[in-house]
Amino acid sequence: MSDRDDHVPGGYEVEISEGRLDVRAGGVEGVVNALTTLRQLLPANAWRRGAAPEGGWSVPCGIVADRPAYAWRGAMLDVARHFFPKRTVLRYIDLLAAHRFNRLHLHLADDQGWRVESRRHPRLHRVGSWRPSTRLGPDGVADGTPHGGHYTLDDLAEMAAYARSRGIEIVPEIDVPGHTSALRAAYPELGEPGRDQAVLDTVWAGGSSISPTRPVVAFLQEVLEEILDATRAPYVHLGGDECDMSWWASDPVIAAEMAEHGYTDVKQMHGHFLRSLGGFLAGLGVRMVVWDEAFVTGGVLDDTIVMAWRGHRVAERAAASHDVVRTPLFPTYFNFDQSGLPQERRSEGGPITLGDVAAFSPAPGEWPAERRARVLGGQFQIWTEWVPAERHLDYLAFPRACALAEVLWSGEILDLPEFEARLAGHLERLDALGVEYRPLDGPHPWQAGGTGVWRRAQSGRIEETRKWVESISHEP
Ligand code: ACM
Repeated sequence: MSDRDDHVPGGYEVEISEGRLDVRAGGVEGVVNALTTLRQLLPANAWRRGAAPEGGWSVPCGIVADRPAYAWRGAMLDVARHFFPKRTVLRYIDLLAAHRFNRLHLHLADDQGWRVESRRHPRLHRVGSWRPSTRLGPDGVADGTPHGGHYTLDDLAEMAAYARSRGIEIVPEIDVPGHTSALRAAYPELGEPGRDQAVLDTVWAGGSSISPTRPVVAFLQEVLEEILDATRAPYVHLGGDECDMSWWASDPVIAAEMAEHGYTDVKQMHGHFLRSLGGFLAGLGVRMVVWDEAFVTGGVLDDTIVMAWRGHRVAERAAASHDVVRTPLFPTYFNFDQSGLPQERRSEGGPITLGDVAAFSPAPGEWPAERRARVLGGQFQIWTEWVPAERHLDYLAFPRACALAEVLWSGEILDLPEFEARLAGHLERLDALGVEYRPLDGPHPWQAGGTGVWRRAQSGRIEETRKWVESISHEP
């Protein structure tokens, strides 16, 4: 590696002298990071949209040279369970850039909604992008209110270009072959014959899968082509997680294709299906990304990036042969509660605290050096089953995202009190930016669950959840 920070992707040098400012960086990402540093040298009010005060700001003379510890510093936003409009995504891009993140992974398709236009297959967005009702709350009662939305391909192109100008690549995800109820509602012939098809109105998992056969691969290639034309994305996420394969072996069309390949187990077909799509992407110069189930079934090519969500052991196993982005449920699923306080809002469980995130080590010292070297970085996830509004997104993301940003840039947080002292100053910048973060001592009254539908449920304890995901991490 070069000795010079400005020769490393994302790295930079800022030199401030009397009446002069020099920025040295190898690309847009480094320039954005340099300008973020410059802004950090100014008072918190410099993060407002208003003009500078009369006489301008002044900064001390000096040189700052810095580089990231990890190349992949990401955030995943699930826009499928609840849709977030383009303006929210654009604002989110600004907030990520302000924390030197460089990837925004958009989970664009799931059982509860398909969120991108397809001109080739327009039922995807016409039928798949909305549901007539949502079952929220402890009793799963349908709220009777339609929910929906999608990005046009032009929206997607705009978001990708906007992100790129801020040093961020959008990583679009079309989650297949599981989590596909919305896709099947639009094109039932791609799934299990005779099974009901509807965009799911439940917020919990349990959706359907599509067939892993050649015509379905061809259909998805056409969809991916459209997404790639719009985004020019260098990475595409194909999902691969939590797929119900129970009906595959008894489906004659799938069975015939399995026989042709000499497969005896449906898991081989899961792997084959994802490798076929990955090969198509590779032909376009695009790298495939998958969740760790795809690693387990062999749904990976040599250069596939594995996002290991189910725990730490599967991440280490994957890192023996593949590049890995660390996305473990604990502590990177920010849709879990931030504390054990009873006033936290209803969520999937928890807690995953700021301290838990600060203690995260993407490439743990106890791993062999060759495996540590395969860790590209990490990413936080916000699954939005219980997150219908942008204000709640802010609450869940911040300040935990600040801790992960620090881990991914610096490698680790060794001195938590020192980080917390700096964070206190940083929260003033978030105030100036209008971010509705969770105060360190607990939610504001209007951020709490109260006694209504958002009352904190008797959710699973995080230790049990952690044990459970580790225990299933050998399964597809
Ligand atoms: C996942 O949480 N199913 C990736």
